[in-house]
Amino acid sequence: MLGGVSELILGIETSCDETAAAVVENGHVVRSNVVHSQIALHARWRGVVPEVASRSHTERILPIVEQALADAGVTPAELTAVAVTHRPGMVGCLLVGLAAAKALAWRFGLPLLGVDHVQAHVHTGLLADPDMPLPALALVASGGHTAMYLLQAPGETTRLGTTRDDAAGEALDKGASLLGLPYPGGPSIERAARTGDRRAFDLPRTLLGPDSLDFSFSGLKTALLYTLRPQGAPEPADPPTGQQLADLAASYQEALVDVLIQKLRRAAARHPVQSLCIGGGVARNLRLRERLAGDDQLGALRLVLPDLSLCADNGAMIASLGAVALRQGRVSPLDLDAVATPLAGGKAKVRP
Ligand code: KG4
Ligand code: ZN
Repeated sequence: MLGGVSELILGIETSCDETAAAVVENGHVVRSNVVHSQIALHARWRGVVPEVASRSHTERILPIVEQALADAGVTPAELTAVAVTHRPGMVGCLLVGLAAAKALAWRFGLPLLGVDHVQAHVHTGLLADPDMPLPALALVASGGHTAMYLLQAPGETTRLGTTRDDAAGEALDKGASLLGLPYPGGPSIERAARTGDRRAFDLPRTLLGPDSLDFSFSGLKTALLYTLRPQGAPEPADPPTGQQLADLAASYQEALVDVLIQKLRRAAARHPVQSLCIGGGVARNLRLRERLAGDDQLGALRLVLPDLSLCADNGAMIASLGAVALRQGRVSPLDLDAVATPLAGGKAKVRP
């Protein structure tokens, strides 16, 4: 808050298959949050096609930004700054959001704030609960990334462990494909699992030794493949249906959630954290949320389970982390680049 005037930041997100924009007041009041998902566009390929995605972002970005401003009742001239995802992601997609953000920043003389998408997921807990006690343990589980972070202070995080192969969401997407369920796999498996028995199929929980805080999900996916088609057996003509499908989905989801919970327990035992927060598309999963709330060790921490709309890709988390950058004086130049890779592991301070 500057002299009683609210800080209003527009956040723009186009790193993958969501065209999103939001206006956030004072870092945590979500005044608007508009998301256009391209899921239907990519469904038949069971994954995101980069060229199709960037073309769709180009068509949607202006109406989405206009909608976010209109929903918030704000004109561009009233904004304090424009925040935009500039890494990691598909470069062609990132460039669309960057071009829009730069144009607005230049035209209205606003500071431009480049934001790291994964760090924005890490900080979603602070957007949902600005009083969340720190340090916090943050789980980011999405289609492209799965990692645990120590969130020491706004803009200051340390990565504790990451996936060595598939991301959790990727494992769900690939598992759903094996089960004949539609893309994206996370929600499809969650839906199919509702009437299933979680113990019907004994699928592996890969923990990578007693001390590791890293993840590995590729073995789980392979185990599902061989459950459906034992080695040497002919390819099944049809995917599973009925109770068998429900049981497979429930067992698969449970194995994946089990690994996430066990890794979080390990990390929480090793680091003096006061809170636990989650972000990324997989953080929408209701079974994961139920297990977190019911866990005797993790449930003792302040659990911050953000609204589902803040977990999947959105502009509000970009605006919120942009507010941190602005407060810390980290304004980006107008020639800010799109970068495909996330900030390096280890001590990862948020930088434009
Ligand atoms: O964060 P996000 O929207 O995009 C990336 O940055 O990747 O995450 C997308 C991922 C997909 O893999 C999708 O299957 C998964 O999140 N997902 C879910 C659920 N909703 C989306 N996984 C489990 N349960 C859900 N309800
Ligand atoms: Zn994401």
